[in-house]
Amino acid sequence: STIRCAVTETSVYSKESTETVDLDWDNLGFGLVPTDYMYKMKCTQNGIFTEGELLRYGPIELSPSSGVLNYGQGLFEGLKAYRKEDGSILLFRPEENALRMRKGAERMCMPAPSVEKFVDAVKLTVLANKRWVPPTGKGSLYIRPLLIGSGAVLGLSPAPEYTFLIFVSPVGNYFKEGLAPVNLLVENEFHRAAPGGTGGVKTIGNYASVLKAQKKAKENGFSDVLYLDSTHKKYLEEVSSCNIFVVKNKVISTPEVKGTILPGITRKSIIDVALGQGYQVEERAVSVDEVLDADEVFCTGTAVVVTPVGSITFLGRRVEYGNKGVGAVSQELYSELTRLQMGLLEDKMGWTM
Ligand code: COI
Repeated sequence: STIRCAVTETSVYSKESTETVDLDWDNLGFGLVPTDYMYKMKCTQNGIFTEGELLRYGPIELSPSSGVLNYGQGLFEGLKAYRKEDGSILLFRPEENALRMRKGAERMCMPAPSVEKFVDAVKLTVLANKRWVPPTGKGSLYIRPLLIGSGAVLGLSPAPEYTFLIFVSPVGNYFKEGLAPVNLLVENEFHRAAPGGTGGVKTIGNYASVLKAQKKAKENGFSDVLYLDSTHKKYLEEVSSCNIFVVKNKVISTPEVKGTILPGITRKSIIDVALGQGYQVEERAVSVDEVLDADEVFCTGTAVVVTPVGSITFLGRRVEYGNKGVGAVSQELYSELTRLQMGLLEDKMGWTM
């Protein structure tokens, strides 16, 4: 069950094989499809991660008193692998995820793998599961790195041991709407983060705390929730699982990164793609009034890619965008980003690996 063992299983692991598993590739959503292998690496007192290993995908053993179970000391990441038309596989900016995990680990008092170790582990895990990377244009392999306090604690303190894990799953579109525009509800009661908190890092607790508002919104027919800042209750923050962009008179604006929103890698990439296409892009405080007056709105994230917003509802007022169709700017940005990710465009930025 170690790396060496996985390597000997050449049918799944050989670089030459471009075979995929027998799956209904046309109907992939964003649900877990268990795959062959996961990656696991441990770190004890000295802050050094020891040799990692590939294991058969399955349950892990965890102490009931582990830091992650008791005090939420955990981080996760999300990135994707795409199959090119020639069968080879592309990763999109994996070192950015490694850096973000390192920043988050610092905030959460955890040691983190080096960028090199992180990227090597991602490559190894993807190659070991390569038959689960969807055919070109049918989706991608979602890669989920986790860093958890696995050591036992009782009093509140950093855990004495950490585990870095990676598992993968083939995925299609994130929202049940597919590529159709989503309907967002501006949340007026709950907040996702506050200044000085952990909203700017990808800690697991950020995602548990948004479930209640998301559930209520979904029960009322919305796709998800758009959060406002907790100080003024007036400026946009982010959607539960992605960043938000607003387009007005061809100027693209998005909330600035200042500790309460996630510094999305897709967010950052889309800003560069938009600048390259000649758009003016502003990272600043964007008020809820502005979003209600926008020409176009879209969300970005690894899971959601670029998802157009069809409507936003705030205090009972519903505003619709672009006749419920996909806006021209969203379409243009989506198209360039995804063509880059799938290797269909020349990668002048050096974003793919
Ligand atoms: C991602 O986009 O990769 C995320 O981590 C969001 C998650 C809620 C699916």
